[in-house]
Amino acid sequence: MSRLVVVSNRVTVPDKTGAAPAGGLAVALQAALEERGGIWMGWSGNSSGNEEPGPLEMQEHGAITYALTDLTDTDVEEYYHGFANRVLWPICHYRMDLAEYGRKEMAGYFRVNRFFAQKLAPLLKEDDIIWVHDYHLIPLAAELRQMGFKNKIGFFLHIPWPPADVLFTMPVHEQIMRGLSQYDLVGFQTDFDLDNFGGGLVREGIGERIDGGKKFSTFGRTFKGGAYSISIETEIFSKFAIKAEKNAMVRKARQSVEGKDLIIGVDRLDYSKGITQRIDAFEQFVATNPDHHNKVTYLQITPKSRSEVPEYEQMQRMVAEQAGRVNGAIGTVDWVPIRYINRSVPRPVLAGLYRLAKIGLVTPLRDGMNLVAKEYVAAQDPEDPGVLVLSRFAGAARELRGALLVNPYDIEGTAHAIARGLSMPLDERKQRWQMMMDHLLTYDINRWCDDFLKDLIED
Ligand code: ADP
Ligand code: F6P
Repeated sequence: MSRLVVVSNRVTVPDKTGAAPAGGLAVALQAALEERGGIWMGWSGNSSGNEEPGPLEMQEHGAITYALTDLTDTDVEEYYHGFANRVLWPICHYRMDLAEYGRKEMAGYFRVNRFFAQKLAPLLKEDDIIWVHDYHLIPLAAELRQMGFKNKIGFFLHIPWPPADVLFTMPVHEQIMRGLSQYDLVGFQTDFDLDNFGGGLVREGIGERIDGGKKFSTFGRTFKGGAYSISIETEIFSKFAIKAEKNAMVRKARQSVEGKDLIIGVDRLDYSKGITQRIDAFEQFVATNPDHHNKVTYLQITPKSRSEVPEYEQMQRMVAEQAGRVNGAIGTVDWVPIRYINRSVPRPVLAGLYRLAKIGLVTPLRDGMNLVAKEYVAAQDPEDPGVLVLSRFAGAARELRGALLVNPYDIEGTAHAIARGLSMPLDERKQRWQMMMDHLLTYDINRWCDDFLKDLIED
């Protein structure tokens, strides 16, 4: 098979501390590339500290060659904080109200994409398969094509794709759609996202779905489109969880919740994750279920994310205040209902904590997939599995049919699902869990990777 060259904004280089990357893309690509080997190019996460982005830094770790570049402060501001995270992210998560348009940021976005293409070009061989990831790098294929590259180039979007009426509020939506048309295959998380993309082309009168829906024809090109639900290393994660029972940190956690039911939430601190609504639902659950007082602990593990973006900074304050307020209102001298942790934890520990929890509370307002939901399922004890309470607006809800599906905007409904989960009989828990686990064992990260690459390579 040809060499695989993966390009993404965020790259995980293994470090000696074993610190876990927080973010679905980093976790999934690490797993996929470890298996196949290849080049992984992206941003180092650092600023060069001057007006020049700096040279590519090459590092080898096992089968993966990392090619990392710094960006200038202006690049980070305009491309990453600006256009990617203040325009594309809110728009793709249906939050037109949060999008901040600026010509400078938009220009920065296209400029950094050209820069990525220029850095990547000398590394490329004629038969390399190039796989570009996520909303930061949509124009990359167009840049490579302009430079004359004829390689197969695939694109996978890790976040949702919005319906036409939402997308069209973005002034440069046509340029963004044109950017996608330069790929050979554009992959989305779910068929809803795929349909939204096709719907947008038709509504704008610039393209159509052809070949029984498998291809798009627009901007003078024909390219494939498909839905490929990203997943996890199910078996490995499940083994982590078993091993983690002996982990010192997990043992401490177990002792500290002795005699109490643990509910767990794990998310980057992001407004799309529905954390404030979730805390409201937990408060509502406690208020309406006095028999659970002092018998339940809700652990929310939430590393800070994109703190330089004002909406994220606000969110950090909001969640901290809310957790404090709820603890103050319903806690007692010997009961802290919400434990709120603001950092990443190593993945094996995370697996152990999921296994301890009677409920995995995953309630994003909108999410491309949500790997936490899948990890929670994989980590459960088959003899005594917990219950997944999952937002119907996460891509994962299309697959994990054994979950208790909730509408995260419906606070009472979510509170009710928590109560139902905590009192669910063992037989029903086992049956629901088995259904989800069987699915995840088949549709794991390797399956996702294989399915995408097969469709990309095939003519
Ligand atoms: P997103 O990509 O939007 O962050 P996902 O749920 O798809 O959302 O992926 C998040 C990934 O980051 C998961 O693999 C999860 O385990 C990891 N993660 C999230 N929070 C933490 C944390 N506090 N510590 C370690 N890993 C985390
Ligand atoms: O999975 C969605 C995603 O936006 C990834 O593209 C990204 O790596 C991850 O979330 C975390 O965000 P960031 O890279 O901005 O820290």
